Amino acid sequence: MAGSDAIRFVFGGILRELRGVDPNTTILNWLRENERKTGTKEGCAEGDCGACTVVLGELVGSRIRYSALNACLLFVPVLDGKELVVVEDLRGQDGKLHPVQQALVDHHGSQCGFCTPGFVMSLFALYKAEAKPERARINDAIAGNLCRCTGYRPIIDAGLVMGKYGESDQFSAREKQTARLLRSIRRKETFAYQANNRQYFAPTSEDELAALTKKYPDANLLAGGTDLGLLVTKQHRDLDTLIALGGIAGMRYARRSGETIEIGAATSYSEASAIIGEAYPDFGEIFRRLGSVQIRNAGTIGGNIANASPIGDSMPGLIALGASLLLRRGKTIRQVPLDEFYTGYRQTVLEPGEFITEIRLPAPRKDRHFHTAKVCKRFDQDISAVCGAFAITVTGGRISEARVCYGGMASTPQRAARCEAALVGKPWGEGAIEDAARALERDFTPLSDVRASAGYRMSVARNLLHRMLFDTAGGPGLSHVLAYEGSQAGSGA
Ligand SMILES: Cc1cc2nc3c(=O)[nH]c(=O)nc-3n(C[C@H](O)[C@H](O)[C@H](O)COP(=O)(O)OP(=O)(O)OC[C@H]3O[C@@H](n4cnc5c(N)ncnc54)[C@H](O)[C@@H]3O)c2cc1C
Ligand code: FES
Ligand code: FES
Repeated sequence: MAGSDAIRFVFGGILRELRGVDPNTTILNWLRENERKTGTKEGCAEGDCGACTVVLGELVGSRIRYSALNACLLFVPVLDGKELVVVEDLRGQDGKLHPVQQALVDHHGSQCGFCTPGFVMSLFALYKAEAKPERARINDAIAGNLCRCTGYRPIIDAGLVMGKYGESDQFSAREKQTARLLRSIRRKETFAYQANNRQYFAPTSEDELAALTKKYPDANLLAGGTDLGLLVTKQHRDLDTLIALGGIAGMRYARRSGETIEIGAATSYSEASAIIGEAYPDFGEIFRRLGSVQIRNAGTIGGNIANASPIGDSMPGLIALGASLLLRRGKTIRQVPLDEFYTGYRQTVLEPGEFITEIRLPAPRKDRHFHTAKVCKRFDQDISAVCGAFAITVTGGRISEARVCYGGMASTPQRAARCEAALVGKPWGEGAIEDAARALERDFTPLSDVRASAGYRMSVARNLLHRMLFDTAGGPGLSHVLAYEGSQAGSGA
């Protein structure tokens, strides 16, 4: 095994170094069991309830960017190079509550209190970005936090006024000092850590990553850990060699280059959604509803694609748009269209030691309508029953090209070949959609499972085609009714 360095991070305003902590230990368990910081709670241990929310600070230029994350899904070595803020840190040294805490107290935002530290930390991260947010921003910030007794109204009220209790806090006062500490622990090359016969590597460049994946082809690549973390917390699996992507600045970008949008595979949803949402507003809305803020701050599009779930939300839209992937193994790079990436249920063309470096999708074109929508039981923080995406090119009033892809209808995200064929050549309108909707019956034989019955899935898939026509023909957007319709299981959408 490689030599081991210590995990270095800022905690409680000072530099901490950790050795001997198993790399599979979650930040939540470390906080509660080693540090006896029990303010951070465990509700679900799978990213759903937000009770474990902590905030990580990362140096971006000369400033610190604070992000809310689920401590139940993150492994301790991920702390390397960052600042960790937990609920116990918020009260000032003078004993005064933080503006977020005081606002919650004054607005009766807590009853049994189990969820409260998580809400405090989600609102704290929002406060650090924007001390006086609009209601919509607050709703979004706490969509990943569940409260079963207080109700959300008093919590939202507290969020609306937290800035009135002061727009800067002790973290602002010591930002320069913290930034200096963070600069002093910044890595220039791979961080190699080991404990309990397990190893964790965090390369700082794509070349280092390529060398490591070649040397350890069976290692688990760790991007945001929002899928991988569950293998440890829910399936109690041992991940003996982890290679983390988060420290590779050169794989964290979202940019437009000519007629192509390029997304580095280690880019989080939060980092990528502005550029994708600007190009394709529907896609932006899919990302806004993907998991919660905590999940989107960690999770990556690369991880979503590689995880190969048939109900992953990025893939239908990307496949409909004709996206492709850059895959790298050693020094060899190949480009693979995303609709050729999946070979079966949870299977991909990735070779041992190969990884995704970049996702490429075409920039919008005037002659092409793009529409994507997901239907699930809840509006926020829910996995799709069905996700549909449509890229329709219309030339002289007729459909000249159609790419239609669904998630949740087959064992992989899959194009609807017969539906596409039924569309091409037809005048753009209701008749074409009727034929295409009928053709879906020959494209898919969906399953019934906990999320939806086969019949429901098929009627949703058909109705999403009608919705696409309605939306792209200039009708009022219907995305706001998706959650309601999704909850009417069996009624179709
Ligand atoms: C509470 C919760 C809610 C969620 N909601 C949604 C949702 O609404 N919609 C949805 O689609 N998903 C959802 N997810 C699933 C998950 O967040 C996404 O699939 C996410 O995109 C995974 O990305 P990650 O960076 O966290 O991947 P990780 O968990 O780090 O990795 C996932 C897999 O991909 C591999 N991998 C990662 N990066 C690469 C790479 N560059 N090259 C090769 N292999 C790689 C890893 O080795 C691993 O096998 C949810 C998850 C949770 C816990
Ligand atoms: S414990 Fe529920 S989100 Fe982490
Ligand atoms: S105050 Fe009891 S769960 Fe929120």
